[in-house]
Amino acid sequence: MVEGKLDNVGKIIQGGMGAGVSGYTLANAVSSEDDAMGVVSGTALDVIMARRLQQGNTEVRDALLEYPDKEFAQKVIDRYFVDGGKTEEGFKAKQFPAFIADENRDIRLSNPNLEKLIAAANFVEVRLAKKGHNNPVGINYLHKIQWPLMPSIYGAMLAGVDHILIGAGFPTEVPAVLESLAEGEVSRMRVPLFTGEKDYHLLFDPKGVLDTSTRLEVPGFIGIVGNHLGVKGLKDVDGYIFEGPPAGGHNAPAREKGLTDAGEPRYGPKDDINYKLLEGLLSKNAEGRGVVQPFWLAGSYANRLGEAIELGARGIQVGTIAAFSRESGLYGQLRRHALQEIMKGAQVFTDPRASPSGFPFKILRADGTLAIPELYEGRERICNLGYLIDLGLRGDGSVFTRCPAEPIVDYIKKGGEQDDTLGRMCLCNSLMADIGIGSVYKGVPERPLVTSGVYLGDVKAMVDSHGLDYSVKDALNYIKRQ
Ligand SMILES: Cc1cc2nc3c(=O)[nH]c(=O)nc-3n(C[C@H](O)[C@H](O)[C@H](O)COP(=O)(O)O)c2cc1C
Repeated sequence: MVEGKLDNVGKIIQGGMGAGVSGYTLANAVSSEDDAMGVVSGTALDVIMARRLQQGNTEVRDALLEYPDKEFAQKVIDRYFVDGGKTEEGFKAKQFPAFIADENRDIRLSNPNLEKLIAAANFVEVRLAKKGHNNPVGINYLHKIQWPLMPSIYGAMLAGVDHILIGAGFPTEVPAVLESLAEGEVSRMRVPLFTGEKDYHLLFDPKGVLDTSTRLEVPGFIGIVGNHLGVKGLKDVDGYIFEGPPAGGHNAPAREKGLTDAGEPRYGPKDDINYKLLEGLLSKNAEGRGVVQPFWLAGSYANRLGEAIELGARGIQVGTIAAFSRESGLYGQLRRHALQEIMKGAQVFTDPRASPSGFPFKILRADGTLAIPELYEGRERICNLGYLIDLGLRGDGSVFTRCPAEPIVDYIKKGGEQDDTLGRMCLCNSLMADIGIGSVYKGVPERPLVTSGVYLGDVKAMVDSHGLDYSVKDALNYIKRQ
């Protein structure tokens, strides 16, 4: 029997929840328990770290001091750390990503030090999640947020991350990227351009971040896909998470076109896992690998661990029940407010338009958030963080970027269609507001927008038994009892 890379991953995975909802505090608490792996979100960590430092977070400062490039770490601390956390004036502006393309069709980030900041922030998050226990920790990325992916992964590898979990697309190039990053070699990933040019790659040179000859460990790679068909699209992984339509955050598009009367994607039997076909596909993959890839089921599974195991899964991945626990990165006041709304009967809507990524996105219809149409309409559009941007090329070969949630005139000026902008929400800014580090624009604080899985019965059960400040350990005990 060949050893599998995921042998150290137990029955419960706490899924990555961006941005900052599954921060190091949550992942650390989960990984400190038996049979459970905590996963930090790897999304937008550079801005999250910079703002936590401005809030005076000494855990983040101290972890940064352990970063191998001491000089750079000190520069970051000097620039951002505020003793006692004085942030009345708002946070320092973030560098908006800019790119240059060369004659080899390679595109790289051109901002001074942004790659370094991204790598250092991913290092810090993993370092803190791994502190005080010897169990594995994962980091989660969205393939759709491609431009920061390679420096992010490199930073996480510098901290010895055990496993990388990627969803929202088929990241077939990641295994090769992990190998080249481990060797400190230049890495490339194909990047789609909205202007239609083909065969362009994002390029990342780890030597630009850290000049080291030490070989890094290659982490395990778990692909997050919708169902058995994902095994065909993404073969070369160590294991899978099959995440069904009820899951929180972004969802895979429905296979059937059109919307329901309520305006949600039409999920149906075609989106389900066919376990017979799955078994065949996994056995076929096992022929080449010598090991059957394990899988975990996600999407309303917090009270169905036993059922998942009977279906052949190693276990489950949960999100919602952990997102509302007290260790979650959700800002305390917002977390309790959302829980109160849930207890009063607030529902979750699968919005086919909200996310600039084009993937359906789950939204909790909670008062005071962008889910309320008047609050959405009343927000002035701005694009100042830039995680969900797409890249394009001008006639002169220079790179420009756009996002369908940016100001509509700007998007149209860049050749975009007005229809693409309708109903889009600035997830970058609203998700920062969710974790208490929101931007303030023209004196107006950005509003939060809470995402959650559809099934809220487990969260209600947690509040009934433990109150609004239940711990993730309470949640894990609940899951293990099922
Ligand atoms: C608040 C929240 C944020 C999420 N963000 C991400 C994310 O950034 N990347 C990802 O792969 N999955 C994300 N998810 C999905 C979870 O990792 C998990 O697969 C899913 O929530 C499981 O379904 P459940 O919520 O019914 O337990 C998110 C879920 C929630 C609730």
